[in-house]
Amino acid sequence: MKDIKVLISEKDIKKRITELSQMISKDYKNEEIVAICLLKGATYFAVDLTKKIKNTMIIDFMKISSYGNNFKSSGKVNILFDITTDIKNKNVLIIEDIVDSGLTLNKIKEYLSLKEPASIKTCVLLNKKERREYPFEPDYTGFEIGDYFIVGYGLDYNDKYRNLPYVGYIE
Ligand code: IMP
Ligand code: MG
Repeated sequence: MKDIKVLISEKDIKKRITELSQMISKDYKNEEIVAICLLKGATYFAVDLTKKIKNTMIIDFMKISSYGNNFKSSGKVNILFDITTDIKNKNVLIIEDIVDSGLTLNKIKEYLSLKEPASIKTCVLLNKKERREYPFEPDYTGFEIGDYFIVGYGLDYNDKYRNLPYVGYIE
């Protein structure tokens, strides 16, 4: 096991998710939402967040792979698993674990926009602003963080450590 330090505690994650769910519920009023969870990283966040949103909701999933290793994106994304929901004229909320270079969310947003949803917004747990290579601003952000390599609460290093209940970083 690598040396993993706590960056954001389970308690602080829970508190922030409650705040995010309140903002989202308020903004969408009584509208129906199609929440799209990006696998695998956003699963823990998406489960906890969607349970707290009162709107009528459809949940769907997408799996994307970026080429390259764990630490560096290579400029390409590949859809491994697509949504099955018809999102035309629907309010789409993409739920993602972390925005780093901005490539993934830029590409996914562009791809889903072609399906003509009524609206499309993004909600990320973590935002590494200083790492941006492709301009991208999430609509809802859990926490702004520095340039750490994060594991836990869904995020992985070589597909491990997702089940840690907190957001940690590898030293
Ligand atoms: P982007 O396309 O460069 O914005 O990267 C987003 C994707 O890279 C996320 O969906 C994560 O899978 C992965 N990623 C970026 N930073 C980290 C990290 O610190 N820990 C684990 N995965 C990360
Ligand atoms: Mg990911």
